[in-house]
Amino acid sequence: MADIQSILSQMTLEEKAALCTGASFWTTTPVKRLGVPEMLVTDGPHGVRRVPDVTSILTESLPATCFPTASSLASTWNVDLLREMGQALGEECVALNVDVILGPGANMKRTPLCGRNFEYFAEDPFLAGELVTSLINGIQSKGVGASLKHYAANSQEFHRHSVSAEVDERTLREIYLPAFEKAVKKAKPWTVMCAYNKLNGTLCSEHHELLVDILKNEWGFEGLVVSDWGAVHDRVASLKGGVDLEMPGPKEVRVKNVVEAVQAGELDEAVLNEAVRRILTIVFKAAETPKGGKFDIDAHHALARRIAAEGIVMLKNNGVLPIKGAQQIAVIGRAAREPYFQGGGSSHINSTRVDIPIDELKKLAGNAELTYAEGYPPDLSFQQPLIDEAVSAAGAADVALLYICLPAAKESEGYDRADLDLTPQQVALIKAVCAVQPRTVVILNNGAAVTVSEWIGDAAAVLEAWMMGQAGAGAIADVLFGRANPSGKLAETFPLKLADTPAFLNYPGENGKVRYGEGIFIGYRYYDTKGIPVQFPFGHGETYTTFAYSQHRVSASTFKDEDGLTVSVSVTNTGTVAGKEVVQVYVHDHKSALVRPAKELKGFAKVELQPGETRTVTIPLDFRAFAYYHPGYRQWVTEDGEFDILIGASSADIRCTETVTLQSSLKLPSLLNNLSTIRDWLEDPKGKVIAEPVIGEIMAKMMKLFGAGENAAPASGMEDMVLDMPLLALLEFQENDLPIPPGKIVDQLLEQLRGVNE
Ligand code: BGC
Repeated sequence: MADIQSILSQMTLEEKAALCTGASFWTTTPVKRLGVPEMLVTDGPHGVRRVPDVTSILTESLPATCFPTASSLASTWNVDLLREMGQALGEECVALNVDVILGPGANMKRTPLCGRNFEYFAEDPFLAGELVTSLINGIQSKGVGASLKHYAANSQEFHRHSVSAEVDERTLREIYLPAFEKAVKKAKPWTVMCAYNKLNGTLCSEHHELLVDILKNEWGFEGLVVSDWGAVHDRVASLKGGVDLEMPGPKEVRVKNVVEAVQAGELDEAVLNEAVRRILTIVFKAAETPKGGKFDIDAHHALARRIAAEGIVMLKNNGVLPIKGAQQIAVIGRAAREPYFQGGGSSHINSTRVDIPIDELKKLAGNAELTYAEGYPPDLSFQQPLIDEAVSAAGAADVALLYICLPAAKESEGYDRADLDLTPQQVALIKAVCAVQPRTVVILNNGAAVTVSEWIGDAAAVLEAWMMGQAGAGAIADVLFGRANPSGKLAETFPLKLADTPAFLNYPGENGKVRYGEGIFIGYRYYDTKGIPVQFPFGHGETYTTFAYSQHRVSASTFKDEDGLTVSVSVTNTGTVAGKEVVQVYVHDHKSALVRPAKELKGFAKVELQPGETRTVTIPLDFRAFAYYHPGYRQWVTEDGEFDILIGASSADIRCTETVTLQSSLKLPSLLNNLSTIRDWLEDPKGKVIAEPVIGEIMAKMMKLFGAGENAAPASGMEDMVLDMPLLALLEFQENDLPIPPGKIVDQLLEQLRGVNE
């Protein structure tokens, strides 16, 4: 390993400034005289997009495996599989001479409309955090780096370069940061990419609190922060804010700005040195891995197929699947010939090969005869003859397979969707085909939730196959014919309609701001807490077998927060085929000082079972599983009290519940202030002891004054009214009878409290 400090001390100011901005679209600036090599980064995240000419952004990249995109990956709920995929990505990086792959993305699916949701994992930070951590660990196990992106609150493409995400501190900490936090702490990504957008008025590329205070200092991130491509507008401000490496380059003016700022004393050279230190550390680490060679194209294709199959979510099945004994199969839909398997934008991969759905069907269909009808055009036009042709093919067959893909024009990096709908032609096609063929299976290819309520009742079965990667066609065939048993579960809720979605009234924002008004209530946290019916809940997914849950246990019924708990449950495959079940553990807090969602995912495990086999899964729940972020204390807190541990097969299918009692280890000071209400004082254990003697008498007087207990004034209502008045206000009503001013009395109580707090 190079002596970073010694190299740094030999670098001129100009060399240091130059190192902090890229040399090309994809490379860092080398310092030849000191033996500092260049480092090559390239897009991901679901494949390696290695552009041969580093000075260009748009030229075709070298062939690489196009794995399924994140929506599909997340639906596997399989951390081991994601680690395997990470390893494969790492191997391809090595072969294609890439030091760092730009991904994965850990942003939350705040609204299903976000055009880039196909690149993001989940509407739940725990699930997303586990999955990205595993993927990064896999990538980096091969001696190449990952770039965790887009940090942070980058949950829409609309005005992505400029919009300010207005997010309160608790929401940021509980929803938008934890997936990044987990990955940083547990996978130590070599780089983190800052987002384009602003967060609460400050560009993420200049956000000191986000990049320095939280990421680097609090979470201990040791890698380098790279800007998203073109996210830096003021290089000096971004260095101060914590962006170590600006990409892309070259940008002589920026380098000059930095040199001049240091010379003028506007930029502390120590800040520049710290950025240089971080860049040099990663550049030399990357150089330790020899590059070149080949990767195993066939093995990676086979892995992509396995992952795609495990990512397929069987939304519905009335028994038509798996297909058995069909003689004539109608294959309908352009996507059966032209698979829609990845999204548009920077993640677009030049696949090593692409399987065609209808060809893969033929391979598994035995003697069955396959007929094909296009069904819908590539654009948004309506063409009745295509529907008519499909209807006649479906009517003549034993079963119809409808391959429906969202037109690429509807979702991509760079813009959001305008609605959650399939095209009018696709909806009409599905309805018409289902009307003549009761055994119709709809196979969906899309990057994020779509609305299906108009036709789902008509279809016999529906598979959500997502953007399934280059080998997805075979994966679909595997599931259709029962070679693979579907085990995918939704990582995002399918709403009944767009207007039901949590961010509906606060999206896409206006006047340069998007207010995250739904706060911590995104995804199922919102639907569950509000009791809003959904089409398919978070965690849902059907299978060809059945699973029974039994013998659930918790390690203790009363426990200390710092010790955590383990939850175990036995799962039996009660069906006739092997399968995999995702056991999900949610936590429900009975009572808390701040409002909490009805339930939150805090653990899960995927278990494979042969028919008749039983296995016990054990899932740990740590301090954070029970804590929430308290903005008053600016920390994660737990409170004494009861929690339900909900063990289920989806967020809506809870199979067993256990109630436990938590004992908090935190000695939190009281947050009472001079406008705290009487209720606040009485509910605060320390405040109660101090204030009760003062409050008792005054309250009784006040209740009498308000006529409590008389006809028009029921005592309980009056009591609530008084309890919710600030103690100060109550004292002020009786100011004339008091020996000292009310403000003084409250100050004295607060003074006493401070003594107890310390
Ligand atoms: C995207 C990043 C990507 C970068 C480089 C940006 O527009 O937001 O995700 O890594 O371009 O292509």
